[in-house]
Amino acid sequence: MELTPGLDRYIEQNSEEEPALLRALRRETYQKTTQPHMISGILQGRILSMLSKMISPDLIIEIGTFTGYATLCLAEGLSETGKIITIDKNEETAYLPKKYFQRSEFAQKINFREGNALEVLPFVNEPVDLVFLDADKENYIKYIELVKPKLRQGGIILADNILWKGKVVTEANDRKTEIIREFNRKLKEDRSLEVVILPVRDGISIIRKK
Ligand SMILES: C[S@@+](CC[C@H](N)C(=O)[O-])C[C@H]1O[C@@H](n2cnc3c(N)ncnc32)[C@H](O)[C@@H]1O
Repeated sequence: MELTPGLDRYIEQNSEEEPALLRALRRETYQKTTQPHMISGILQGRILSMLSKMISPDLIIEIGTFTGYATLCLAEGLSETGKIITIDKNEETAYLPKKYFQRSEFAQKINFREGNALEVLPFVNEPVDLVFLDADKENYIKYIELVKPKLRQGGIILADNILWKGKVVTEANDRKTEIIREFNRKLKEDRSLEVVILPVRDGISIIRKK
């Protein structure tokens, strides 16, 4: 969500700095990919890192790696023996996350799976502490159905883009807006989950399994 440019700057200046490796990854994402806007913003990245540190997860699943920015932010909070499984089906961009994962201090903790998340997720059989949902909106509900049974009690799902650039409260009735509205409605109605929406960037839902 839009703040004034002054407040944006103030928040950034008074929050943790973006680590150097992530700064380089952001630069290369803008230089080398055709849809660089898909990368998580600096503030969103620091929020993901902070939430992960608060949870100290043993297993994180990220659905939608893109160039690996959020993967590296989330990895900052992993427990000593923790790992993150990150999934993306885009073969063209896969060289970038691979390059930066290798350079990172978390290289041994990152398991990058190239493929369709709908096909990869059924093979994850360990209990999951934290999920970052950031892929195709059409399948958001299916992803929740797939990961919910694997999530520990008290486990967290973070879902990105759930305000859809503010369109959820407009008259817009295009397919993607309807899908996001339906997703938000379903989660709110699900008595086994607790939801709170953070008005950060394009909106992040924090979803907790009761
Ligand atoms: C918004 S980007 C992810 C951004 C990344 N999480 C970050 O914070 O920088 C969405 C990614 O989801 C991937 N994606 C879309 N549908 C997918 C699917 N069914 N399975 C796996 N990846 C998918 C796309 O290839 C794209 O790289």
